[in-house]
Amino acid sequence: MELHNTIAIVTGAASGIGYLTVCNLIKAGAKVAACDINESGLQTLDAALDCGPERFFYQQFDLTNEASIKKFVTDAFQKIGPCNLLINNAGILRDGHLVKMEEQAQYYALPTAQWRAVIETNLTAPMLMARQTILEWLTLKIAPALIINVSSIAAKGNSGQSAYAASKAGLNALTQCWAKEFSSHGIRVVGVAPGLVDTPMASSLNASDFLEITKASHLGRPGKPEEVWQLIKTLIECEFMASQTYPIDGGNKL
Ligand SMILES: NC(=O)c1ccc[n+]([C@@H]2O[C@H](COP(=O)([O-])OP(=O)(O)OC[C@H]3O[C@@H](n4cnc5c(N)ncnc54)[C@H](O)[C@@H]3O)[C@@H](O)[C@H]2O)c1
Repeated sequence: MELHNTIAIVTGAASGIGYLTVCNLIKAGAKVAACDINESGLQTLDAALDCGPERFFYQQFDLTNEASIKKFVTDAFQKIGPCNLLINNAGILRDGHLVKMEEQAQYYALPTAQWRAVIETNLTAPMLMARQTILEWLTLKIAPALIINVSSIAAKGNSGQSAYAASKAGLNALTQCWAKEFSSHGIRVVGVAPGLVDTPMASSLNASDFLEITKASHLGRPGKPEEVWQLIKTLIECEFMASQTYPIDGGNKL
């Protein structure tokens, strides 16, 4: 797919990797429909792009709301035209051991609500976004088309990351399932699995976790959103990259 012919849907566009991805897509001549729960971040992005509503459309909503996802995808096709790219980028990080002894022999147990929030945002929402978008693609006979799922190296499993790791491992499995189900319709499905990337999400880690994860890569530094974009750009342009989740992690040693 050529970047300037891309009509993209991007989730989690108000910050970090999503924000930069939208900026670079618009710079390359693409059209973008973006969403996020963070209204002010979307307004900042809109002002920075300054490219008009026919090239950039945004909607604020919570991706855990199924009805809002349906409305957004339908509106996106109406506002910017026949979308041919979906980037499932939005995600949250809420770490915590399943059970851990804390001070004075008190046990911490991972709150069920925390587990559910991570699974709903990182796994259920991408499924709902993809289901609605693929419905449009098959109905309107749009091909070639592409889904990029933003996963994480944490999908391998990591201490203190039960919910996050499970959500990203599930997302990798969905990449495989959809590739098998929709390749014959001209739909490619791929994933990117970053290591630590310098975004507000990474800044939310405590200092010792940040240092430990940084040291766990051969390059010994966090990645930049721009470096993740380079992989996303390659995945859009290179039609032979299909069905896999590609790591971009500075040489993760774990
Ligand atoms: N930063 C890292 O170190 C890193 C590493 C591996 C994978 N990732 C993945 O990359 C993706 C982007 O992360 P980032 O680092 O840019 O983080 P970020 O926190 O800067 O951006 C995530 C965006 O998703 C939005 N979002 C979260 N929950 C939402 C919801 N329920 N509804 C709508 N929007 C919601 C947030 O408002 C935010 O704008 C995520 O899927 C994350 O898991 C990040």
